[in-house]
Amino acid sequence: MGAGRIEDISVTRKQDDRLPGLDEPIVGPTGRPKQEFAEPKPLKSHGPARIISLCNQKGGVGKTTTTINLGAALAGYGRRVLAVDFDPQGALSAGLGVPTHEVTTIYDLLLSGSKDPLDAIQKTAVDGLDIIPANIDLSAAEVHLVNEVAREQILARVLRKVSADYDVILIDCQPSLGILTVNALTASHGVLIPLECEFFALRGVALLIETIDKVRDRLNPAIELDGILATMYDSRTLHSREVLERVVDAFGDSVLETVIGRTVKFPDASVAGVPITDFAPEHAASKAYRQVAREMIVRGAVA
Ligand SMILES: Nc1ncnc2c1ncn2[C@@H]1O[C@H](COP(=O)(O)OP(=O)(O)OP(=O)(O)O)[C@@H](O)[C@H]1O
Ligand SMILES: [Mg+2]
Repeated sequence: MGAGRIEDISVTRKQDDRLPGLDEPIVGPTGRPKQEFAEPKPLKSHGPARIISLCNQKGGVGKTTTTINLGAALAGYGRRVLAVDFDPQGALSAGLGVPTHEVTTIYDLLLSGSKDPLDAIQKTAVDGLDIIPANIDLSAAEVHLVNEVAREQILARVLRKVSADYDVILIDCQPSLGILTVNALTASHGVLIPLECEFFALRGVALLIETIDKVRDRLNPAIELDGILATMYDSRTLHSREVLERVVDAFGDSVLETVIGRTVKFPDASVAGVPITDFAPEHAASKAYRQVAREMIVRGAVA
């Protein structure tokens, strides 16, 4: 019912103000010349992983959706991918359809250095995509970690033990800049910031970049901004286009050329507990996430 309603709205919005006959724009939505990202070559060997945090303290911007679908798309290109659920809400675990109770979770690994991280890794329905799940227990981690020695480096120590088996590790952060997110940033080689194309989206990004800079100064000198991924973009609204223009003005080439359109297929795929790239492989959104995967490989963010 709900999905039908949203589609009705998009039909009424269909008066397009683009020039007629310009269906295939020669510039991409970010205003740069449209680029094709080449099909990546298969890897001859695997690991050690490059670790990437999907991070934005604003809620509901597409962190989890991007972790799932970028992860699945990279796995589709033969990369070995480990997704880490680092949000007590456990949306990543639910979205990939794995159990989160009576299993070892990321919380257990943070709390006990003697637990073997390999015991926490679960396979997903997607070949090549594994996950370390989380559940609500993780919300207690902030309290437990406060008194730990080197409390910002605990996740880094956990992931070091599994890094050799993967080409990329994607950490799905919670919407906050607390100790868990600082742990994720400290463990990471790079950060990918999903950014919803709506007006207030820009407000928090300066603070997030400041946080990344602090982590670089104090904890992890090597951390890089891998990119900003515009999500929930609707090319038919002037608002979406204006926001994207401002994001590109502010962050230039950090903004990935690929943008993710707004579509009701994502909620549908979440309910099914599978990536959209499996749920509807020929859907525009699946193509977009495969392009994000290729763009990340071309940029060198993923092997
Ligand atoms: N491109 C899109 N078009 C439409 N809906 C989307 C899109 N991407 C994600 N969604 C939906 O928006 C909601 C929020 O997405 P998601 O959970 O990925 O965001 P998040 O940043 O991880 O949120 P949180 O901060 O709560 O962890 C979900 O219901 C998801 O299905
Ligand atoms: Mg999330």
